[in-house]
Amino acid sequence: MNTTLVIGAQWGDEGKGKIIDFLSQNTDFIIRFHGGNNAGHTVINEFGTFPLHLVPSGIFAKKAHGCISSGTVLDLEVLTQEIAMLTKAGITLKNKLSISPRCHIIMPYHKILDTLYEQAKGKAKTGTTGRGIGPVYADKVSYNGIRLADLANRKQFVEKLSIQLQVKNKIIKTLGGETLSLAKVEKQLLSVYKKIKPYIHEPYGILHKGLQENKSFLFEGSQGVFLDNDWGTYPFVTASTVLTGGINSGAGIPPQKIHNVLGVVKAYTTRVGSGPFPTELLDAEGEKLRKEGAEFGTTTGRARRCGWFDAELIRFAAQLNGFTAVAITKLDVLDTFKKIKICTGYMYKGKRIHYYDIDAHALFSVKPIYKTLKGWDTSTRGVTDYKKLPVLAKKYLAELEKQIGVKISHISTGPEREAIIQR
Ligand code: GDP
Ligand code: IMO
Ligand code: MG
Repeated sequence: MNTTLVIGAQWGDEGKGKIIDFLSQNTDFIIRFHGGNNAGHTVINEFGTFPLHLVPSGIFAKKAHGCISSGTVLDLEVLTQEIAMLTKAGITLKNKLSISPRCHIIMPYHKILDTLYEQAKGKAKTGTTGRGIGPVYADKVSYNGIRLADLANRKQFVEKLSIQLQVKNKIIKTLGGETLSLAKVEKQLLSVYKKIKPYIHEPYGILHKGLQENKSFLFEGSQGVFLDNDWGTYPFVTASTVLTGGINSGAGIPPQKIHNVLGVVKAYTTRVGSGPFPTELLDAEGEKLRKEGAEFGTTTGRARRCGWFDAELIRFAAQLNGFTAVAITKLDVLDTFKKIKICTGYMYKGKRIHYYDIDAHALFSVKPIYKTLKGWDTSTRGVTDYKKLPVLAKKYLAELEKQIGVKISHISTGPEREAIIQR
């Protein structure tokens, strides 16, 4: 049995989709366990280029069975579109995808409320993806959610929906939004439910049977450690638990069954949305990172904020999640930089402090301590052999490894599945 949990170690978009697609080739089960279609995981392989929002990124592997477990929240329209896109590309999901009936549904009012709350917060907004993520999880924890299982019983569904619409329409009206009609929402949901129905069955049983049969598992984290609702830069975070612990509540897997925790780390740092970002570059170098790295959101198309590698954050992420190894992605993006900086720690009010000592508001005012390394100024694009990397690139990786304190097991040198070094 081999179980690997893949976790984004920064603010999302580290290249988890690429790494999972690569790792999934011999995997039996590939599982999404939290978040929703705020995630955008890019996979480029022999079938084409896919921005996946809900279906696990390892679904292309021949024997892999995809699971969307209970911690995931679902926009049923997006899910049906994604299933259609994959079917068109030759990936038949019949008997290859199991969706938990415990998954909460992102309702039309969650998306409206997401936008209205952001508007109400003005300058202090989180910069959400607008996919209804905060409101759907809020309803989940306050016992107001509607789950996939509810759709199986029309009477029960309409009763729940009617109560929710009474409350939600009042809030929407107060905030100046357009209210929703019960008949319209009911019709819309029930029609899309029909398309999803064949895939709905609780994955828990097959996953535990698989554990007994020593199968291999890949758990696909979404977002990144610093978007975690508890340990991220709150309130500039997402609503779910993105950490190692999320697999117990989100997929029903006991923590001691996880053998490997792989942190996926970009060779520099990016962030979409608001919030502190100590190593952010607001100058021509930041612009160059954005251009070379094509740093535009997979989900919303927004330009990603870019900055240097922040070892203070990754050391914490590694400790918090128990990373057993780290995959460094997008090394090739640094190919043309003459000098590359690594943030080794923070100064705050004249003292050295750690990320966990302060809150997000104080994090806006920390001063990064930098170590500057010489760039390799040679193409690493598509390199698959560690020995073939330029000496200065190896030096950069060795410095990252030293700073993080965890071994680097994979180095990605391009967006395609093959562009990877395995050590
Ligand atoms: P995820 O959300 O963590 O799966 O990451 P995204 O897919 O949102 O963003 C990562 C982007 O970088 C995608 O466009 C990938 O195709 C691309 N990418 C992944 N790994 C590499 C790499 O090693 N080099 C380059 N140049 N691009 C990469
Ligand atoms: P993947 O899985 C990058 C960010 C949003 C916003 C904050 C809250 O592709 O790495 P939400 O819509 O979740 O309420 O937004 O979190 N965010 C992401 N940023 N990658 C993601 O997912 C993200 N999912 C959410 O930009 O700052
Ligand atoms: Mg992404």
